[in-house]
Amino acid sequence: MPHSSRRPRKPYHPKRVISESEDGWSRVERTAPTRHGNTPLVQEALPPVDRSLTLEKLLDEHKRCKQQWVNSEARRWLQQLLARQMTEGGWSLNKAVCVALGSPSLSWANRLRSVWQLVMFMDLIDMVRPNLKHGDELKLYAQEPRFTSLDREFLKSLDVLVLEQPRAEEIVDDASLIFIPCLEWVLELPFMLVAAKSPLYISSSMHWVAEEAERARYRLANDPEGSNRLQKDCDDALAASKTVLDTHHEHKMPEADFADGHSLAMTIYTLKHAEED
Ligand SMILES: C[S@@+](CC[C@H](N)C(=O)[O-])C[C@H]1O[C@@H](n2cnc3c(N)ncnc32)[C@H](O)[C@@H]1O
Repeated sequence: MPHSSRRPRKPYHPKRVISESEDGWSRVERTAPTRHGNTPLVQEALPPVDRSLTLEKLLDEHKRCKQQWVNSEARRWLQQLLARQMTEGGWSLNKAVCVALGSPSLSWANRLRSVWQLVMFMDLIDMVRPNLKHGDELKLYAQEPRFTSLDREFLKSLDVLVLEQPRAEEIVDDASLIFIPCLEWVLELPFMLVAAKSPLYISSSMHWVAEEAERARYRLANDPEGSNRLQKDCDDALAASKTVLDTHHEHKMPEADFADGHSLAMTIYTLKHAEED
């Protein structure tokens, strides 16, 4: 049979599968097709951090982003909002907890988002600190399972104590500023349950949480194997998001595009004053 009558073979492109292992390292696997499907051909581990980064570089980056942030319209909006919403006598806060920042040093596309979010968290602290009730101290904490040792060093240099999961869930209370720049709704639930009394709760959006919980509940209703535990989480998240919306004023941050193309838009929930209830 002449070659020309053979069906042309599909060109072979090895698949590149990147997965994250529990220790935060990215595993890259290339695969080769066999009769039994794709089998791993090469395995290599990428370093978890951008090797070119150092503490000094991260601090420089933080400084550069802060300069841009300080001159932004979004920052002016935030300053005015906090001045308007502060209770008489100041903020009743003694800790600020940043949850789900992502890693500022892992070499993935969103690394700079984490730097930006940290800039915003630290600036919020600078705005709140001079106005604490009873001359309270404000302790700073951050929890993120993906923090690398460089991130920990970076945070320590900014006086932020890193917590091991689930310490943040345990220590948050009604004297906590809670800052959550994007977390899956079911993981945000323990914080939302406390947020009803938190003077300042910063999150993606309670409407988004409610929509996600509603969607999960709908899926569960059509799944005979669906767990009761998740069903309860859905109900709790729906109730908690409604409570936060009832007890707080909702302020959507104006969309702000920074030079790196990162949007920081989040929602600020400020506790209603007693006389407003
Ligand atoms: C959607 S990412 C958001 C990362 C970053 N803030 C951003 O906006 O790009 C969610 C992050 O939550 C972290 N995370 C998951 N469970 C957590 C927990 N219980 N406490 C703190 N962070 C958690 C994950 O490691 C992940 O980095």
